[in-house]
Amino acid sequence: MAQPSSSAGGTGDTGGNRRFVYVIASVAALGGLLFGYDTGVISGALLFINQDFQLNAFLEGFIVSSLLLGAMVGAGVSGALSDRLGRRTIILVAAIIFGVGAVGAGLAPTIWVLIVFRFMLGLGVGAASALVPSYISESAPTDVRGSLSSLFQLAITLGILLAYLINGVFATADSWRWPLGLALIPAVVLFVGMYFLPETPRWLVSKNREEEARRVLSHSRSSEEVEREIGEIRAVEQEEEDQVGYRELFAPWVRPMIVVGVGLAVFQQLVGINTVIYYAPTIIQSTGLENVASVLSTIGIGVVNVLMTVVAILIVDRVGRKPLLLVGLAGMVVSLLVIGGAFLLPGLSGIISWVTLVGLMLYVASFAVSFGPLLWVMLPEIFPVRARGAGTGLSSLSNWGANFVVAQAFLPLVAITGRTTVFWGLGVICVLAGLFIYFVVPETRGRSLEDIESDLREGATTG
Ligand code: BGC
Repeated sequence: MAQPSSSAGGTGDTGGNRRFVYVIASVAALGGLLFGYDTGVISGALLFINQDFQLNAFLEGFIVSSLLLGAMVGAGVSGALSDRLGRRTIILVAAIIFGVGAVGAGLAPTIWVLIVFRFMLGLGVGAASALVPSYISESAPTDVRGSLSSLFQLAITLGILLAYLINGVFATADSWRWPLGLALIPAVVLFVGMYFLPETPRWLVSKNREEEARRVLSHSRSSEEVEREIGEIRAVEQEEEDQVGYRELFAPWVRPMIVVGVGLAVFQQLVGINTVIYYAPTIIQSTGLENVASVLSTIGIGVVNVLMTVVAILIVDRVGRKPLLLVGLAGMVVSLLVIGGAFLLPGLSGIISWVTLVGLMLYVASFAVSFGPLLWVMLPEIFPVRARGAGTGLSSLSNWGANFVVAQAFLPLVAITGRTTVFWGLGVICVLAGLFIYFVVPETRGRSLEDIESDLREGATTG
């Protein structure tokens, strides 16, 4: 594998060029664009796949969930692999998987071939979710780490919106192959971009490649900052036991971090975001709106999702992670009460549609400014460098597992208990998530990854 050029984006001796870390974060965030696009594209494409292949409910569900199953495997395997082989190397492999998956799914001659390639795309999506946040976080200076890591979520939301729009464009051509196949383009850009970017300084130090780490840091830090950061990374390194990968996760001092990581990851799905992202048209249609209006509303939801993620990027390093999470969850509780309540309004279907739509927008806005980006910002922050890949991998795997459960359970639960119970139930889960964050999750804003690690380690030994 080619070593990245040591001058790429660098500023020579002077260092301190922040542009380089933005380039790093933006290229890596393309993994998020593919995550969002590949998960978002299928709901619209399904209508036309149905015309070509005559699906039954089982096959339809399987086309959607094969990607989620692949993502669980991808997240689980890639994290630990990246602790051994490097974040960049595995992201490059993921980019190849994304590319082959896109072409294979777009050309699939039978439904089972399509399912196999959707599973393959899932491997890429899972790997991206486990690795890109660590790659960005480990490359970022502390004071802008939150904003940079949030670029991953911004890319996810842009990917979802792009998928909604491209589905809209190709809907008239009755084609599903183009929307699936076009994901090849960002996959190629991701591969080429990552090829020229370096490994993260933290991973390099963990492999005793300090000189390379120094070179990478000097692209975006002054020489004084480089030495300070190397010193901090090394100090924490020496405290870590000499194990890597999943074994490390069972060490007693890593356990509190697993509780925080897996807890955040599972709650991010149990609050129900993908009932809206995957089923928005179904929910809106069920209030009596026409097809076209419900497709337009879905695009509106996609736009709100992107815009509020931008707001999060602007404020996350100033207001702190926990306050933002708690405010977002409060907004979600209010909107879920509104949506659940709307279905109790008697007969006036016009009003129900609008109240539901406003509730859904408020709900997505509250998620997008908080839990959406913050899960991916915080996961790499709370794991020690040697177990970071395995830790974020295990957490991402739990995130995809919970995503799968919610996606499968939503429609049957609505049929059994009714819409109001389901949305109010999601509100109760948001309250539980708030309690978990308030009492269990540490604040990570403004602290170096090394500081956070030392604190979590102390917490584990003292209490
Ligand atoms: C979640 C996805 C969700 C997306 C919505 C991500 O952070 O992990 O499951 O579809 O946000 O924007």
